[in-house]
Amino acid sequence: MIISGKELSAKLKAEMAERVASFPAEYGRVPHLVVILVGDDPGSVSYVTGKAKASAEVGIRNTTIRRPDTISEDELLGMIAELNADDGVDGILVQLPLPKHIDEDKVIAAIDKSKDVDGFHPLNVAALWQKQPCTLPCTPKGIIKMLKSAGVEIQGREAVVIGRSNIVGLPVSKLLLDENATVTMTHSRTKNLGEVTRRADILVVAIGRPKFVTADMVKYGAVVIDVGVNRDPETGKLCGDVDFAAIEPKASVITPVPGGVGPMTICCLMENTIECFLRRVKRA
Ligand code: GUN
Repeated sequence: MIISGKELSAKLKAEMAERVASFPAEYGRVPHLVVILVGDDPGSVSYVTGKAKASAEVGIRNTTIRRPDTISEDELLGMIAELNADDGVDGILVQLPLPKHIDEDKVIAAIDKSKDVDGFHPLNVAALWQKQPCTLPCTPKGIIKMLKSAGVEIQGREAVVIGRSNIVGLPVSKLLLDENATVTMTHSRTKNLGEVTRRADILVVAIGRPKFVTADMVKYGAVVIDVGVNRDPETGKLCGDVDFAAIEPKASVITPVPGGVGPMTICCLMENTIECFLRRVKRA
């Protein structure tokens, strides 16, 4: 079975669009998401375009601010301070990665926690690890939704995560743990990786290397979630971190690239923007 993140996200976005349509009457306005893109990395440009398109579909107001990669850290922090103070802004997202002269951690920490639609702010991260209410990071949240939509049982099963990034590996491990999986976190220095991944009932791969996971690393009947977005060095086409053609026949459930995790990430960003909006308008 192939889980289509594209189809699931289309359904969820349609449901959100219905809710958002009632907001002007109820709250006097729609949610407003501001996306900041520094530089012109093609991957980042494509993500930011996807976020604007999804916002339009859901009825969320989207402002995308583009700045050259020569922008100073102070200038960027100044923009964030203004957006924090702007009552008409509900969500602030700074597309990562940032140029090397800018301290990413400092930028993320500068975003008002209540407008942190990515769930990257240290206070949101702390809340996640303490199992307190928080904005969940979009990709991990989307992965759990996909597993549930496919009827995958998580409780008590062996989940193996490859990759330990702040954006995916670490938080998805925590969410799987919260669903009562037995979670193993692996990474580029893990010895005998294949031995570990072959134990996985659920394998989540977020390492950022084309076709890194080969068929021999996957158990028959495993659920395989591919977070990778890479260019296939041979064909130049978009491909994931797993060798889809070889693994699909072995897996019970697998996600494609493109059309798998990517659309779900954007869908969860829309959901997070609505959540931030509702918390703000209800508090006001
Ligand atoms: N770069 C890659 N993934 C993400 C994401 O989920 N949010 C942001 N802000 N940047 C990213």
